[in-house]
Amino acid sequence: METMLEARELAKSYGTGAGALKILDGISFSVKKGEFVSIVGPSGCGKTTLLMALAGLLKPDAGAVSFKGKVLTGPSAGIAVVFQDYSRSLFAWKSNLENVVFGMIRNTTLSKAEKRAKGRELLAAVGLDGFADHYPWQLSGGMQQRVAIARGLASESELLLLDEPLAAVDAQTRADMQDLLLELAERFQQTCILVTHDVDEAVYMADRVVVLTRRPTRVDHDIVVDLGDRRDQITTREDPRFLEIRHDVMAAIRRFRAETPLAEKA
Ligand SMILES: Nc1ncnc2c1ncn2[C@@H]1O[C@H](COP(=O)(O)OP(=O)(O)O)[C@@H](O)[C@H]1O
Ligand SMILES: [Mg+2]
Repeated sequence: METMLEARELAKSYGTGAGALKILDGISFSVKKGEFVSIVGPSGCGKTTLLMALAGLLKPDAGAVSFKGKVLTGPSAGIAVVFQDYSRSLFAWKSNLENVVFGMIRNTTLSKAEKRAKGRELLAAVGLDGFADHYPWQLSGGMQQRVAIARGLASESELLLLDEPLAAVDAQTRADMQDLLLELAERFQQTCILVTHDVDEAVYMADRVVVLTRRPTRVDHDIVVDLGDRRDQITTREDPRFLEIRHDVMAAIRRFRAETPLAEKA
């Protein structure tokens, strides 16, 4: 299978000199076309920093990211990001529908009316059919995040990067949104990288889980989630193999937490 994204020895520090904080410490992994890869790691380890580097939005100090075989030097039309800080990523002066339509900005084949129709369809898909003409600030945090997800999907970009997209969503909606994301990623044939600190979510959603160490972060291990393409909230989560993988990832994260000084724990 074709490689979609490759990270090679990514390193990044914030600040310089004595006050420099080393975040990424030689991160390497690759993602194939059509794969769904989860990245998990302890909070504050550098997951958002890594995702921004993968999106071409943050220049690493060393190493490189290749997207479809070409080294990224900046943001790419083929990569969409759903940001962790969704409330700041939506336009307050645009309606929810206009925010979703904005995700299609690079689409030159659809007419304005077709984009609006598709935008309404996507909002309906994330359970917000009645809210197309409302503004993001009129919605709860979880609903705003769903608008941001609809916008991310609207781009139909080949690669979708998701930074803890469901963190602000309640448990029941969260399960529904997980299934919706899987279904839409498949429908739009998007390759996905999901950053989350929720181990169950990471395993449930992915074909592979990349486990990061605490900061400065490296890839601790890379696990294939051999649970098939069809996931089900009840049967998948009861599958002995699911529990085995979950155990493995959970144990790694607990080990990192035990190594972390209390003052640094979030
Ligand atoms: N722009 C920045 N300047 C300085 N420090 C930062 C910046 N962004 C993040 N950090 C710090 O880098 C570390 C990793 O942050 P982040 O990538 O957001 O981690 P995560 O997403 O895993 O919680 C944290 O300690 C955070 O405080
Ligand atoms: Mg983060």
